[in-house]
Order: sequence, then structure tokens, then C-alpha cells
Amino acid sequence: MTSISIIGSGNMAAAIGTRAARHGHTVEIMARDSARAQALAEQIGNGATVGSYGARPAGDIVVVAVLFAGAVDVVRHYGEALAGKVLVDITNPFNADASGLATTAGHSVSEQMAAVAPEGAHVVKAFNTIFGGVLAADEPVDLLFAGDGAEARSAVAAFLESLGLRPRDAGELDMAHALEWAGLMLVGVARNGGGFDIALGAGTP
Ligand SMILES: NC(=O)c1ccc[n+]([C@@H]2O[C@H](COP(=O)([O-])OP(=O)(O)OC[C@H]3O[C@@H](n4cnc5c(N)ncnc54)[C@H](OP(=O)(O)O)[C@@H]3O)[C@@H](O)[C@H]2O)c1
Repeated sequence: MTSISIIGSGNMAAAIGTRAARHGHTVEIMARDSARAQALAEQIGNGATVGSYGARPAGDIVVVAVLFAGAVDVVRHYGEALAGKVLVDITNPFNADASGLATTAGHSVSEQMAAVAPEGAHVVKAFNTIFGGVLAADEPVDLLFAGDGAEARSAVAAFLESLGLRPRDAGELDMAHALEWAGLMLVGVARNGGGFDIALGAGTP
């Protein structure tokens, strides 16, 4: 299939990387802690590799799987190494008590990432309306996404489909802020009886 790169070595990096490897992609893990990157690549197996943090990623799709407070800095740190890449922002920028967002309309994490990304890079928000455990379960659930340009969104849709997910295109990059609110809503539903084994969907009956 394709080669995808994941920046980060936490829960979501593990869930996305494992699912991608299981569905035939070559996975590259890049993390500021190289020992953690190595450990995750070994856990994922299936030929997963470790890339140098800050070097040009091997994959055309680069999933930025870090905490929201660090995501823009990560893009800044990589700089030109991300030219031409599709950057997938998975962050949920919740405020301290998860009663609202730390971002505002027009300044979603995705839009802030796009503002510092190099020429030819396109940011797409995805994976923030699903819990890591649901992704890991490898079920065919809906996956909402939105981002910068039809070409980048279609590349992400193809990637999601290859993982056995149902891509649900919410539109251009300005919809990323709505997805951030949707991520908060997912947590609200989970905490109010829905449980943490759910994902937001846009399904037909
Ligand atoms: N967990 C979920 O179910 C879920 C669902 C949807 C979306 N998300 C979003 O996915 C993202 C990752 O969540 P997670 O659950 O995987 O978190 P996690 O397990 O805590 O892992 C966070 C990762 O981010 C890295 N990181 C944090 N700050 C960084 C910085 N300034 N520069 C570089 N790397 C940095 C950490 O590196 P170190 O190990 O070096 O600290 C670690 O690899 C978050 O933005 C979260 O909102 C999570």
C-alpha cells in the first residue's frame, strides 16, 4: 500500500500505527523521545520503522499525533521537511476542565498548523472524533474529517478507507473548529452514559 509517517509515540500513535500496519501500510514512527519511538515501532511490527525527529518524513501522509499544545511547535520544528506533505491533525484542544475549547473559530489547531506549515503542505483534521480504543478494535466506523483542499481530503479519504473506516468529509479547513467541538461533544456523550467505546458518526439508517 503506502508509507505513512506518524509523529508521536503515545496512545493514538499506537492505535493509528497498528491499524495502518495491519491494513498493509508501511509505518514510520518519529518522536522526540527516540527510545519510545523505537519501542512503538517494535510493538507495531510489520516492518514499522523509526525516523529521525525533525527529518523529512517518508510518508506522503504525516499524522501529527501529539498533544494539542505541542502540535503547532512540531510543525514549526519540522519546517521545510514537511513541504508537499498532507499533515493530519488529530488533536482535541480541550480547556483545563474539558468544559470548552482552548481554540477559537478561525484559529483551530489545524488552521494554526497550516499557518506555519511550509509551501505545498496541506492540513486535514481527522481522528479526533473517535477514541483510541475504538480505532484499535478495527471496526468499520465513521470517521469525520475536514481540511485544506479537495486533493488532500481525497488522499485522507483513501487512507481512511484503506483502514476499513467510513470517511465522512465535512469540508474545508474552516470546519476543523467544528470538529474540535465535535470532539468535546464525543467526550460529553461518553461521560453521560455513552461509554468510551464510541465514535461520532454521520451514518444513514
Ligand atoms: N486518546 C484518545 O482516545 C484520543 C482520541 C482522539 C484524539 N486524541 C488526540 O490525540 C493526540 C494524542 O493523544 P494520545 O492519547 O496519544 O496522548 P499521549 O498518549 O499522551 O501521547 C502524546 C504524545 O505527544 C507527544 N508530545 C506531547 N507534547 C509534545 C511536544 N511539545 N512536542 C513533541 N511531542 C509531544 C508525547 O511525547 P513524549 O512521550 O515525549 O511526552 C507523546 O508521544 C492528542 O492531541 C489528543 O487530544 C486522543
